[in-house]
Amino acid sequence: MVKIATSLLSADMTRLGDEVKSFTRAGTDWIHWDIMDGHFVPNLSFGPDIVQKLRPFSPLPFDTHLMIEHPLKFIDSFAQAGSDIITVHVEAKDKIPDMITQIKKNGCRVGLSVKPKTNINKILPYIPMIDLVLVMSVEPGFGGQTFQKEALKKIADLRDLIGHKSVQISVDGGVNDITAPACRLAGADILVAGSYVCHSPDYHQAIERLKK
Ligand code: DX5
Ligand code: ZN
Repeated sequence: MVKIATSLLSADMTRLGDEVKSFTRAGTDWIHWDIMDGHFVPNLSFGPDIVQKLRPFSPLPFDTHLMIEHPLKFIDSFAQAGSDIITVHVEAKDKIPDMITQIKKNGCRVGLSVKPKTNINKILPYIPMIDLVLVMSVEPGFGGQTFQKEALKKIADLRDLIGHKSVQISVDGGVNDITAPACRLAGADILVAGSYVCHSPDYHQAIERLKK
């Protein structure tokens, strides 16, 4: 069954601890942290301290998505803060093998992400070394954007190329009850959802709707 990673980007920041607890009770599978540096994307979000402070609020995997230009500088801090999966972008400025090695050194699972305009060919050489591919279905930087349908072909192509091996495919951006079924059909294993869950009056119902 598909897993849901709830993104905290659209959560109520004034009560983030309660939100993490509520998403956990509501049945999310992972907690997705969107980390932004104001360079790789035109926005800022969370640093490692807040991730560490919130770590005791949920037993679920922390899925940390680094939208930063130089991930090498920060991989250790986000791992020590309690991340279970660390995803870096192929478009980042550090060398991809170095980032993969650094994530593994910290004992975390490795994700590689592609922005909407990046070809999945950029990921293929690294498939044997990683645990997860994160297909962006919006330009990274902000929650609440419209799902870009081109992501579906990328997911399907990756699914064909990877087969049903241990590398999971995650899709991030604009996931809601309309776009989720298409993502599942294309072969996604994990759906990252921010505003759809966070803005729903009933988190449990929203998460269930994405899964069905
Ligand atoms: C965008 C982030 C996403 C975002 C998803 O840069 O990577 O995780 O929070 O938000 P929604 O679901 O609102 O598109
Ligand atoms: Zn994300």
